[in-house]
Amino acid sequence: MDIKKTIAQMTLEEKASLCSGLDFWHTKPVERLNIPSVMVSDGPHGLRKQDEEGDHLGINDSIKAVCFPPACATAAGFDRELIQTIGENVGDTCQHEKVSVVLGPAVNIKRSPLCGRNFEYFSEDPYLASEMAVGHIKGVQSRNVGVSVKHFAANSQENRRMSSNSVVDERTMREIYLPAFEMAVKRAKAWTVMCSYNRINGVFASENKEYLTDILRGEWGFDGYVMSDWGAVSDRVAGIAAGLDLEMPASGGANDKRIVDAVRAGELDEKDVDHAVECILTVSERYLQNAKPETPWDMEAQHELARKAAAECMVLLKNDGGLLPLQKGDSIAVIGKFAKEPRYQGGGSSHINSFKVTSLMDALEGQSGVTYAQGYDTVSEEPDHQMIAEAVAAAKAAKVAVIVAGLPDAFESEGYDRTHLRMPQCQIELIEKVAEANPNTVVVLYNGSPIEMPWLPKVKAVIEAYLGGQAVGGATMDVLFGIVNPCGHLPETFPLKLEDTPCYLTYGGEGDYAPYTEGVFVGYRYYDKKKMEVLFPFGYGLSYTSFQYSNLKLSADQIKDTDTMTVSVDVTNTGKLPGKDAVQLYVGDVESTVFRPVRELKGFEKLLLQPGETKTVTFTLDKRAFAYWNTQLHDWHVESGEFNVEIGYSSREIALSAKVMVESTVAVPVTYTMNSIFADLMKDPKAMAVLEPLLNQMKSTFGGGETDAAASAISEDMTRAMIMYMPLHGMLSFAGGRLSYEQLQAMVDAINRA
Ligand code: BGC
Repeated sequence: MDIKKTIAQMTLEEKASLCSGLDFWHTKPVERLNIPSVMVSDGPHGLRKQDEEGDHLGINDSIKAVCFPPACATAAGFDRELIQTIGENVGDTCQHEKVSVVLGPAVNIKRSPLCGRNFEYFSEDPYLASEMAVGHIKGVQSRNVGVSVKHFAANSQENRRMSSNSVVDERTMREIYLPAFEMAVKRAKAWTVMCSYNRINGVFASENKEYLTDILRGEWGFDGYVMSDWGAVSDRVAGIAAGLDLEMPASGGANDKRIVDAVRAGELDEKDVDHAVECILTVSERYLQNAKPETPWDMEAQHELARKAAAECMVLLKNDGGLLPLQKGDSIAVIGKFAKEPRYQGGGSSHINSFKVTSLMDALEGQSGVTYAQGYDTVSEEPDHQMIAEAVAAAKAAKVAVIVAGLPDAFESEGYDRTHLRMPQCQIELIEKVAEANPNTVVVLYNGSPIEMPWLPKVKAVIEAYLGGQAVGGATMDVLFGIVNPCGHLPETFPLKLEDTPCYLTYGGEGDYAPYTEGVFVGYRYYDKKKMEVLFPFGYGLSYTSFQYSNLKLSADQIKDTDTMTVSVDVTNTGKLPGKDAVQLYVGDVESTVFRPVRELKGFEKLLLQPGETKTVTFTLDKRAFAYWNTQLHDWHVESGEFNVEIGYSSREIALSAKVMVESTVAVPVTYTMNSIFADLMKDPKAMAVLEPLLNQMKSTFGGGETDAAASAISEDMTRAMIMYMPLHGMLSFAGGRLSYEQLQAMVDAINRA
């Protein structure tokens, strides 16, 4: 189809009609011009395609599909290839099911562990979230199916989710909340973006020109269409002008009419409508031209992939005395309702109707020496003493007790935030009682976000399995028995308590007002800066083998910010089992004039090593790895100086470190005014050339005349401070009439001209 020509043939009414959905999941057709309707569907860790009754809350059934591990788990994989493979499978599924765009990945930053949708999001770290997003998108789109990167932007809470106003400063937005979207667009060429429900600094995301057009298209080169989150449109006409192309789901024609009326009244440029239609049709055509409904959908093969992914994303948090892996034939008491009915995905719009689910007990079927006790229920938090007694008896009779615990569905979901980090009391009590009865107690956790672990010292081993998708049971067995060597790493910090979290004081907002007061200090950026104890740090994860890093090499010890440099490090498997490691690279500015985190993740690599094997990993760092967002330049900027380049097992366990000097090639222009203070002026030789004589006069005005040494030292410090922090206009008060306002202004102008 020649899209421009087609648009030229359309009436204004037809064009406006294309700017909203036909129903919950389809774009509108224009039969007269052979424009077909195409389908979009939720996901993204599988396909939630509703053939009949549509809803955006996961209430009505969707077709049977395969539920891969959600983002909370896949992020823990630190594995670009793995998530790309999952994406490819989701893409194939969409082709098979005639779905043009799958709604996701959701790349919002985990600002607080309380966010109800954290299980759908990747990380507290923008670099990790970006890499995961790019991997997933490349996978899906390699199948000629689009993604919709969501929810754009600053959508990190569920509380008042359709009206809250995220108040975020420019630098924080650029460094923390935007990069995953930026990379999804720049590197993975996302076909569509979904704007969020919330306001961004006062303006609804659905009508925010700064984000939808200036940044997204203008800066990042986005060439797809922006759709609204379901029901996120407030002012449709403003939305069109701002760059919101498609309203979803449908508005019963009311907003289409508003668009028509606004154009007729001269309040909206018809070109903006044309542009929206062009973007929508371009993406739909891209799919239609490459539609392959004959693509096979092998659900069983995908189930196996889901199992592999779940296992490789599990994080081994504790393994005292090498209790794990277990041996086949060991007598094992498996305890916990989740061992039979696993919680493996979250609630809401991403809910997949799994064609089958494997529990740990299913996976262990037929294995001798295995007993089971339910231990707790999920309907009530109250401990059930009878169930606990049965679990304790089973634990006593076995060599090892494996408790499968975590968070029930009601504890975390789309639509509302958590209010605490506790597990249900019935599970806490169960774990404590079982651990007393059997010293070899293992806890496997199925949850979408961090929890407190008051029982941690009492148990020997802990596996954080997150929400592992429909094959979680087999994956849990694989990790427990060492069929898969655990290799996941935490994509977020587990704090000791809720009160420790960076945005504890303001999270959730005051009414709609949601100020992001912690700025760039989100997750480990905050805990590291404050040198706080945490339960488990970002990037943490054990293995059944051990790894050692050596031979850190930088390609240069001095670079310009326009150069790239490489960093290489040797990784050796020093243990007895093959295993995968996720080597992490962090960068930190040694000294800076802006507030900066101690370290920030700027690279990671996942690699498989046989026992005794060594591999060299190479990272490439460019300007962005050293830069912060400068609000004067409105651009990334590197302050000249030394930077630490660190290789870590986690954000808290840095094994090797080296320094590199980075020289900036960009000067930040400074314009002085009467309010500029001497501390700043004194650093600038061209300012000093003009001000020196004046300054000498000032010194004599302030100079003490004390006779004893101590008093004169204090007086000198004080004089310096008084002068340093004095604005230029202050001179007028102390110059005793020798300096006029006009003379001083002339000096300021002279400095600015110099
Ligand atoms: C969610 C989106 C989802 C959409 C469609 C909304 O409520 O926020 O993530 O894609 O519904 O179901």
